Amino acid sequence: MTDKKLYIKERDTLFEIMKSGNTEEVIRWYDENATLYDEQFNSCGFVYHLTTVETVCKVAPDKKAVILDVGAGSGVIGKLLRDHGYCTIDAVDASEGMLKIAGQKNIYRSLICAKIGTELIQEETCEYL
Ligand SMILES: C[S@@+](CC[C@H](N)C(=O)[O-])C[C@H]1O[C@@H](n2cnc3c(N)ncnc32)[C@H](O)[C@@H]1O
Repeated sequence: MTDKKLYIKERDTLFEIMKSGNTEEVIRWYDENATLYDEQFNSCGFVYHLTTVETVCKVAPDKKAVILDVGAGSGVIGKLLRDHGYCTIDAVDASEGMLKIAGQKNIYRSLICAKIGTELIQEETCEYL
């Protein structure tokens, strides 16, 4: 099976897991498929990452803004933000596998492995956009 076919099959599995509402299983899926994520991202025809960054540029034109990329994954949006001149970006994601890939890109000031809605982010870092 090609990587693309494998990824599509795995993605269908993810949709089923999401329907069940089991967050732990969702995170496990991202961990297990992290190495396939970037390779397949462009072939999916997504535009949300472009519109997200466009919006950030509009609401926070100051490139010194400190940004928290929530659900940062492998750093797709972080990379675009860096390309647009933002230089202080932290990443939070519950998948260690996805964060590991993000870390290899040297985009983020810090990588925070945490599940959204269950863990506090340290007070001194609460300067985010
Ligand atoms: C579709 S990916 C998006 C990644 C990246 N923002 C992008 O646009 O390519 C969703 C990411 O959210 C993370 N995620 C899902 N549920 C989460 C939760 N409850 N807490 C933290 N991260 C979560 C997953 O691990 C995954 O990396």
